[in-house]
Amino acid sequence: MNGYDKLAIDGGTPVRQKAFPARKPFGNEEIRLVTEALESQNLFLGSKTAQFEKEFAGKYGVKTAVACSSGTAAVHMAIAALDPNPGDEIITAPVTDFGTIAGMLFQGVIPVFADWKQNSFTMDPEDIERKITPRTKAIVVVHLFGNPCEMDAIMDIARRHELKVIEDCCQAYFTYYKGKLCGTMGDIGCFSMQQSKHLTAGEGGVVITNDETLAMRTGLFRDKGWENRHKWGPRSYSFLGLNYRMNDLTGAVALAQLGKVENTVEVMHTLGDYLTESIKDIPGINPAPVTEGGRHSYWLYPIKFTDYDAVKFVNALGAEKIPFAWGYTVNPIYLCTDALTKQRTFGQTSYPFNSEYYPHKVEYKEGLCPVAERELKMLGTLRIYESWSKEDIDDIAKAIRKVAKGLKGSV
Ligand SMILES: Cc1ncc(COP(=O)(O)O)c(C=O)c1O
Repeated sequence: MNGYDKLAIDGGTPVRQKAFPARKPFGNEEIRLVTEALESQNLFLGSKTAQFEKEFAGKYGVKTAVACSSGTAAVHMAIAALDPNPGDEIITAPVTDFGTIAGMLFQGVIPVFADWKQNSFTMDPEDIERKITPRTKAIVVVHLFGNPCEMDAIMDIARRHELKVIEDCCQAYFTYYKGKLCGTMGDIGCFSMQQSKHLTAGEGGVVITNDETLAMRTGLFRDKGWENRHKWGPRSYSFLGLNYRMNDLTGAVALAQLGKVENTVEVMHTLGDYLTESIKDIPGINPAPVTEGGRHSYWLYPIKFTDYDAVKFVNALGAEKIPFAWGYTVNPIYLCTDALTKQRTFGQTSYPFNSEYYPHKVEYKEGLCPVAERELKMLGTLRIYESWSKEDIDDIAKAIRKVAKGLKGSV
């Protein structure tokens, strides 16, 4: 065994000898548009944000886009637009950011988790249907890592049971399912512009819809429900809302990013698919699954380690200077927060759980979504950036092959 074959974790030479190119999402166009926004002397409900909304809706081919302050705000706005009653249930994904769930709890909605379909890292339509009750109001699908959910099956279930569908596309800009853009198949699509996302303004979010009532309610909820803001006279707030507005500095960055995001996704898509091609023959390694008819945008590139201990594999890759992380959230979201496991929500009340609005007992505990619980622990994820090239992916593939060989039989 020469120095190269020996695993770096055992003192061998790492495969990767130089740092991966840093992501530098912001450039001259962002500076130009931010400067223009500042020079306009108005950053409130400004023209850059309005232009971003118009162009985003245009690119997605929808009637309305409503910009807001985060992905969490976007999902909250979408849920509030549906006007659920306290004690209604919404079915969602077991593995996601808490931003998918927060708006449900603030609207008094009971989150219900549908398991992953095995080997897909996306929601199992059959489990979604099993979890429907007379209280179910909607389904919030999450296109996790940039892989579209099985939208044909999910939309069929939703229409048969008269449920609304919100698409959480925070990890899935310009991601396609059977030629359709994720975010346009359900009733409302929600996006985040947090720093790591395909389109980033550091923070921010946007909601899209073709439904005029939902568009109106989404826009009002973002602005405290203030229906006559632009008219003189006594103020009128039509329903309970918040301030989730987007600052025009953010709007300016978002507008500049909109000119780049399709290329960003294209590069990440190409590099992700290239990695799959380069490693798919290695036994014991399940490269990123892609939903049938889907086009993955690889916000994260996931591998399921079937014949290896995922922690050991990821650590060995780290020693080869390949930046994989183990387990994503490690546990499903329902085990990650006291708001669910202990139902510690508003003061001492546990509202909406154990309240007059929800006479059923719900528990968030291990065993709720066994596939997700098991597969999370077998998972390694890689963040591919649009600044990378195929040569960078070649090193990653080389390291995965080396570690697979080096660790073979160790588990
Ligand atoms: C799937 C998903 N939903 C919601 C969010 C919340 O977005 P934000 O962090 O912008 O509030 C995120 C962000 O990480 C996400 O990945």
